[in-house]
Amino acid sequence: MNIHFLYGTETSTAEILCEDIEADLGDGFDTTVTSIGDIDPSDLDGETFYFVVTSTYGNGDLPMAAQPFFDKLDANKPDLTHVKFAIFGLGDMVFSETFAFGSKILMEKLVECGAKMVGERGIHDASSPDLPEDVAVPWAQEIMGLAKAQAA
Ligand SMILES: Cc1cc2nc3c(=O)[nH]c(=O)nc-3n(C[C@H](O)[C@H](O)[C@H](O)COP(=O)(O)O)c2cc1C
Repeated sequence: MNIHFLYGTETSTAEILCEDIEADLGDGFDTTVTSIGDIDPSDLDGETFYFVVTSTYGNGDLPMAAQPFFDKLDANKPDLTHVKFAIFGLGDMVFSETFAFGSKILMEKLVECGAKMVGERGIHDASSPDLPEDVAVPWAQEIMGLAKAQAA
C-alpha cells in the first residue's frame, strides 16, 4: 500500500507527527511525507492512502503553507471521488471557539469534493497532558486497520 503523509504546520509538530506515524507503521508500505503546500489537489491519486495532519492558526484557519491547497479545493471543487484519506488535527483548547478548526475545515472541503474519509477525525489538544504522538499513533493504527479491511 502507498501511504502519503501530508502535513500542515507552522512549528513542525504536524510534520514530526507524520514521521512518528510513518516510523510506527513499519515495513511493507511505500511511504512519503510532504507539506500540503507542496502538492496540488490534482496530484492526489486513487492508489495511495493519504494521512493528513494539520494544526490550526489565526481565527481557526489552516497554517499559511496549507492555505493555497484549501483555496484550490474551494475554488475549483475538483472531483476527488477516487481519493481515500484520514485526518488528524492539532489544536489548543485555549482557543475554544476555533479548536482544531484547521483540520475540520479541510476535512469538510475534501469530503465536499467527494474524497472518502476513513475513520473519525483524530484530535490532539496542546493544553492536555498527552503527548501528540501518544494520541496520534494509536489513532493511526486504528485507521490502518479500517483502511486494510476496506481494501480487502
Ligand atoms: C498564534 C497561534 C494561534 C493559534 N490558533 C489556534 C486556533 O485558532 N485553534 C486551535 O485549536 N489551536 C490554535 N493554535 C494552537 C496550535 O494549532 C497548536 O499549538 C498546534 O499543536 C501547533 O502545531 P504545529 O506545530 O504543527 O503548527 C494556535 C497557536 C498559535 C501559536
